[in-house]
Amino acid sequence: MDKELEDKVKKRRTFAIISHPDAGKTTITEQMLLFGGVIRKAGTVKARKTGNYATSDWMEIEKKRGISVTSSVMQFEYQGKRINILDTPGHQDFSEDTYRTLMAVDAAVMVIDSAKGIEPQTKKLFKVVKQRGIPIFTFMNKLDRDGRPPLDLIAELEDLLGIEGVAMDWPIGSGQTLKGLYDIANNRVELYHKDGADRFIALDKDGKLPDSEPLSQDQQFQETLDEIDLIKEAGNKFDREKIALGDQTPVFFGSALTNFGVETFLNSFVNLAPAPESHTVNEDEELEPDDPQFSGFVFKIQANMNPHHRDRIAFVRVGSGEFKKGLDVTLARTGKPIRLNNATEFMSSERVQVSDAVAGDIVGLYDTGNFQIGDSIYSGKRKIVYPPLPEFTPELFMRVTAKNVMKQKSFHKGMNQLVQEGTIQLYRNYQTDEYILGAVGQLQFEVFKFRMQNEYNSEVEMTSIGHRVARWIDPDQLDPSMSNMRNLLVKDRYGNPLFLFENEFAERFFKDKYPDVKLTEKL
Ligand code: G4P
Repeated sequence: MDKELEDKVKKRRTFAIISHPDAGKTTITEQMLLFGGVIRKAGTVKARKTGNYATSDWMEIEKKRGISVTSSVMQFEYQGKRINILDTPGHQDFSEDTYRTLMAVDAAVMVIDSAKGIEPQTKKLFKVVKQRGIPIFTFMNKLDRDGRPPLDLIAELEDLLGIEGVAMDWPIGSGQTLKGLYDIANNRVELYHKDGADRFIALDKDGKLPDSEPLSQDQQFQETLDEIDLIKEAGNKFDREKIALGDQTPVFFGSALTNFGVETFLNSFVNLAPAPESHTVNEDEELEPDDPQFSGFVFKIQANMNPHHRDRIAFVRVGSGEFKKGLDVTLARTGKPIRLNNATEFMSSERVQVSDAVAGDIVGLYDTGNFQIGDSIYSGKRKIVYPPLPEFTPELFMRVTAKNVMKQKSFHKGMNQLVQEGTIQLYRNYQTDEYILGAVGQLQFEVFKFRMQNEYNSEVEMTSIGHRVARWIDPDQLDPSMSNMRNLLVKDRYGNPLFLFENEFAERFFKDKYPDVKLTEKL
């Protein structure tokens, strides 16, 4: 075993932030990058959010490339650890890539607006992370504003997400009356609106402030102590095993905007979050992350929208070994040998270099069309194949046809390739065979249309079917007469039948009508 490699791997912490738009993901990311020395002032990452962000970011990718590619992965050193934050685009940029990115991380941070609680996009992303069984850390943000009672927020984790919350710290007041944080894990108080080391006051062994501290006499502090007693007595008990499996989430409070509670959070996170672990490969073999043979899998492909530069970037999560420039690898799907000469730099501090990427790190490879999403690559003789990435249930649907009927060939070729690549999902009407595209975010349709025209010279006509609830049905239970206006019957690209329900009511109506029919949902 290579001790040096093992030490490097142990230092890695790779995670993504899951949140609903506006909860504060960008703001907290920025604070972390400041701590990591990647940026020197706030506003750097945020700059990319201004303007007509979503579509233009993609369509004008050449112009903005520096930003959108580099910020896909943000890397820094903190407390002797190498941190990788993988960006999970939201808003109109939400796409299957957002979900797939969650397949490449070892932990997730869930940022929640403490005034709003758990919102829909958080819930969707949570589901994917939960399914992976990786640790999830929660940051209740915007404490400087009036929010919901902390006890409510913790209860909501269990009620809405089915995960136990265990408080690591607790607010003293909130909004206008915010005084600080009672830091249970470190037995200290962190004062609000104070910079530097003296913002921390140590608590005594009973968790009380010294009488000489003015805050000790404060009414709000007394209330906090009562709440702390309550959660210590009746709350969930900190359980490392449950945290590791994603059955319990450590909960931190703070305000990203005023950089309050973020450092406390980050320090705990770095300690508690796991280093890269082994992967099951070749169906049933455990591959250790410090195995010297290099391997990894492609979890995202970003295509260049400029027709003169058809190159793309394949994002590879390293699973074992060490990436070196010029490394010779094999693409498992085709057996094709590839020399990895061209890797891209991500946003990182000067101390960090892409050239020594190990398990947990992400390598961005310039690609001329070799890679597909889910592909495995490996160096050396032993073939290493990672499990396929899951497909996600689309929620938005469009009918699609070629504008020019004379160009059916390029239409089919483009569509097949883009579907294979994972750009979009394809369905066909069960009865009429017409093509229907499915996506989890609007951006996927726009990318599809743009690439069809630019790469395959095929103009497409798309009409929205809108939001639909997709549910698969066992072919043996299927009777085509079950389909009607409110539940369109289609088949996926493997020929499996599914219904596209107009909404949840239509689904419920169907279930009431056919109680014995089993409907299944993918991730
Ligand atoms: P996102 O990436 O999750 O979408 O959220 P982002 O960080 O952009 O934050 C959304 C809004 O919430 C921003 O305000 C941001 O300044 C604010 N915000 C983030 N954290 C906190 C916090 O701890 N307290 C308070 N009070 N606000 C917070 P905005 O007005 O939409 O943007 P901007 O004009 O400040 O750029």
